[in-house]
Amino acid sequence: MTAAPAFHHLPVLGPRSVDLLDPRDGGLYVDGTVGGGGHTRLILERCDDCRVLAVDRDPEALEAAARNLEAFAPRVRFLSMRFDGVTDDPEVRDRGIEGALLDLGVSSHQIDVDARGFTFREGAPLDMRMTPEGETAADFLNDRSLDELQDVFRRYGEERRARALAREVVRRREERPFATSDDLVAAVMRVLGPRTEHQDKARIFQAVRIAINGELEALERALPALRDALTAGGVLVVIAYHSLEDRIVKHAFREWSRACICPPELPVCACRGVALGTVLTRKPERPSADEVESNPRARSALLRAWRKAA
Ligand SMILES: C[S@@+](CC[C@H](N)C(=O)[O-])C[C@H]1O[C@@H](n2cnc3c(N)ncnc32)[C@H](O)[C@@H]1O
Repeated sequence: MTAAPAFHHLPVLGPRSVDLLDPRDGGLYVDGTVGGGGHTRLILERCDDCRVLAVDRDPEALEAAARNLEAFAPRVRFLSMRFDGVTDDPEVRDRGIEGALLDLGVSSHQIDVDARGFTFREGAPLDMRMTPEGETAADFLNDRSLDELQDVFRRYGEERRARALAREVVRRREERPFATSDDLVAAVMRVLGPRTEHQDKARIFQAVRIAINGELEALERALPALRDALTAGGVLVVIAYHSLEDRIVKHAFREWSRACICPPELPVCACRGVALGTVLTRKPERPSADEVESNPRARSALLRAWRKAA
């Protein structure tokens, strides 16, 4: 049997996110993105008698987290699923949760292991799946229509030359199917020019990753479900890594915190008429320069938190 892969992940904005969650004895907390277990460990260290439901859609992450959190075993239950499914768990349905954390995106492990295909390092396979099944990045580029490719490059990659890039992908795949990161890098460079920046390649790779993993749909479904599962005074903390994710979180938290959500033309309020809770972070919080220096992957992190009304 091959040894399980090493899994290093410094929890981004770790102490701050756990301060906001404020775990209490007897509480049940959801870590929807357990990864290597960094945030879960901090939660469990904060109280002797709280428990965590540790969720990840990546079985390699769960394996690593189980190893890293062995000392806390009786207080952690691992769930291999997408985080938007955790509110169907019978325990969550029956008793609710005191807090939930989503530390979105990919883990250091997923990026560091070339075989997972999240990287544009030379020769890496075009995979990018967070789960072992489903459409790979190569399938996506080889099979989707011109319009679908354009839509993903434009919406998720915010790429101005989305149509030209989609056309280039279609032209290239007719000669030879996309198989490695080099194939996508070559298409991007052909359209954006030889001086294409590292960030431009990262943007396009990220767009494909978001599409094949249904990342934004999962977030949109999970937020209201987790909000409803929170007990009174419970806290939801989300760490996003790009503006598309952060926008979804910002709008959700704002809307839940308004007493009236009626259209402005209605003369009398006909909606719920009370705020469901309060935003705890007026602006997204970012890691300090020191944290970014010791963990460069934290640099784009944007943390927002919301508390359900007591
Ligand atoms: C940034 S890492 C989390 C790292 C973790 N907080 C730690 O301290 O080790 C994100 C993790 O979330 C998982 N993930 C991303 N989207 C998910 C989803 N919709 N459902 C479940 N897990 C997801 C990824 O597989 C990855 O392991």
